[in-house]
Amino acid sequence: MHYFLSTIAVGWFIAPAPALARSIGIGSGSSTLCATNGRQVTHHDSNIWPWQTYQSSNITPPYLTINRTGEDLASGLLFIGQENDGSTGVKQVSPFILTHDNELVWGGPEGDSSNFRQQYWGNQSVITFWIGTGKAAYGADAGRGWGKVQIYDDQYQLIKSVCPRLNLTMPTGTTTDCDADVHESFITEDNTILVTAYNTTQADLTSLGGPKDGWVYDSIAVEIDLATNEPVFIWSPLAHLDINSTHEEYSSSSQTAPFDWFHINSVQKWNDHYLINSRHLWRTYLVNRQGEVVWYIDGEDGGSFESLPNDITFSWQHMARLRNVSSTQALISWFANDLDTATSTVPSKGLTLRLTLPPSPEHPPELVTNFYDHQYPVSSAAEGSFFPLPNGNTLMGYGDEPYIKEYGPKGDVRWSAQFAGYDLGQSYRVYKQQWQATPSTRPSLVVTKAVANDDLKQCAGKSSSLRGYVSWNGATAVEKYRVYAGIDSRSLQILGDVDKKGFETKFSLPSGIKVVKVAAIQAGKIIRKSAIVRV
Ligand SMILES: *[C@@H]1O[C@H](CO)[C@@H](O)[C@H](O)[C@H]1NC(C)=O
Ligand SMILES: *[C@@H]1O[C@H](CO)[C@@H](O)[C@H](O)[C@H]1NC(C)=O
Ligand SMILES: *[C@@H]1O[C@H](CO)[C@@H](O)[C@H](O)[C@H]1NC(C)=O
Ligand SMILES: *[C@@H]1O[C@H](CO)[C@@H](O)[C@H](O)[C@H]1NC(C)=O
Ligand SMILES: *[C@@H]1O[C@H](CO)[C@@H](O)[C@H](O)[C@H]1NC(C)=O
Ligand SMILES: *[C@@H]1O[C@H](CO)[C@@H](O)[C@H](O)[C@H]1NC(C)=O
Repeated sequence: MHYFLSTIAVGWFIAPAPALARSIGIGSGSSTLCATNGRQVTHHDSNIWPWQTYQSSNITPPYLTINRTGEDLASGLLFIGQENDGSTGVKQVSPFILTHDNELVWGGPEGDSSNFRQQYWGNQSVITFWIGTGKAAYGADAGRGWGKVQIYDDQYQLIKSVCPRLNLTMPTGTTTDCDADVHESFITEDNTILVTAYNTTQADLTSLGGPKDGWVYDSIAVEIDLATNEPVFIWSPLAHLDINSTHEEYSSSSQTAPFDWFHINSVQKWNDHYLINSRHLWRTYLVNRQGEVVWYIDGEDGGSFESLPNDITFSWQHMARLRNVSSTQALISWFANDLDTATSTVPSKGLTLRLTLPPSPEHPPELVTNFYDHQYPVSSAAEGSFFPLPNGNTLMGYGDEPYIKEYGPKGDVRWSAQFAGYDLGQSYRVYKQQWQATPSTRPSLVVTKAVANDDLKQCAGKSSSLRGYVSWNGATAVEKYRVYAGIDSRSLQILGDVDKKGFETKFSLPSGIKVVKVAAIQAGKIIRKSAIVRV
């Protein structure tokens, strides 16, 4: 409704008046101006990983180091929820969208986030991430949190904040307004969202050598109706399972530090069933609406399936997902950390099994993928993601370790990236997804004098050292910027177009001009204009 082809905008398309054109060197309106990528890379400052800087934006995303083979990669954008890992290892803690060629697309609000991704809310493509108290994997309250899920539309406007209130008992010293945990925020086709939540309660720990009324976490799966904000399904592991099924070692516990025997970290809805993953039981459960366990798969012995493929086990795993489900078969996949201490060197894997349903010993699970980087293996003690991409590739985010790898269909590593020093940065999961957005903000324009001998110095033989820098945080479809210049705001004329170069486009400007403005062009049309900048 807003935007272009108002009568004023049409006026801008007229050719420059000859006198003005001569005085400031403006040529034909259709000329293409010299442009280049405005990004600078700032290198290591002690432990901090290299980051990207711009003139027109103060966002400082990581500068990934990338290895790639040249074989096909899936299309899509990378969603990284960058955090420090203990000490200061990254320049900016924020959710970032980047291309696999290292170009920033969007830098989100500063602060810890978790499970940053695109998903559909009904027919609406949205981005979501968790914010709150606690952290995915470091600090005193590492491994869980209490907070809310933020939902942004494709103009980056916050359209909903999901703040479940579940009457949880909190560990001593922790307070919060909202009860969603860091691990899951899965919008279903039923206009609900699946979250996890960590409740503090007491349980009989005598089978583990503890007291009869020891403090534990009951890490529950919760489905919330997005229309009413009310929970419509709650599943408590404590109500259904024995605490002594855990692989987490019990030594002591208190209300300040409850024993985290189950550690829920993913929930997925399939029809009216829920797939619930427990890191500390090395198991994934399929639960029906009544809360009954339909089957479970165990990382040591197969559980209901009674066996696992030869040489395959899994432990401390993340992101259990079902797909290709029929009445007789399903694929199940995990990011199989396979370790819980940072000192272990067992590589973490992208594991997929084909299950025959219902479980029966005659049809044991079959191995589909067991991917890891044989040349540069990564061992990640916590967090992580693994899922298929539309072209048959798969993407692995190494969670607690700052690596991302895209594998070909046969498990060949095609693209590998690092965004922080080993053990110094993390992203709970990493997604590669389709995302189209046009921000509600304006393109940001800065005009400044170039440093001597910059990369546009020889451009078009111009002697001017005036440079424009334009970026538009979050825009995914800009092709070009149209540049207008003049001696005052009423004499703005088309100077020419510049092709978009990365996140920030730098272009040369003639000397003598006093005002500059740019318009972003998508699909051949002007879609949004910057403010007028005085030189
Ligand atoms: C989504 O779009 C389809 C087809 O346009 C329509 O049938 C359906 O009702 C829409 N669903 C929602 C939740 O808006
Ligand atoms: C929380 O407590 C209120 C007041 O007692 C109750 O109405 C509500 O159902 C409770 N919610 C849950 C999720 O238990
Ligand atoms: C949380 O635990 C408390 C006991 O500490 C219990 O009263 C409450 O019902 C639990 N809440 C949920 C949502 O399970
Ligand atoms: C585990 O706990 C259950 C319930 O308390 C008990 O019946 C069972 O014997 C225990 N198993 C072991 C191996 O201690
Ligand atoms: C899963 O389903 C997709 C789409 O139906 C298909 O292309 C793919 O081959 C299936 N994967 C496996 C391992 O069977
Ligand atoms: C990229 O390759 C170099 C060796 O050329 C290796 O040292 C580095 O670990 C690789 N990076 C990743 C992220 O795999």
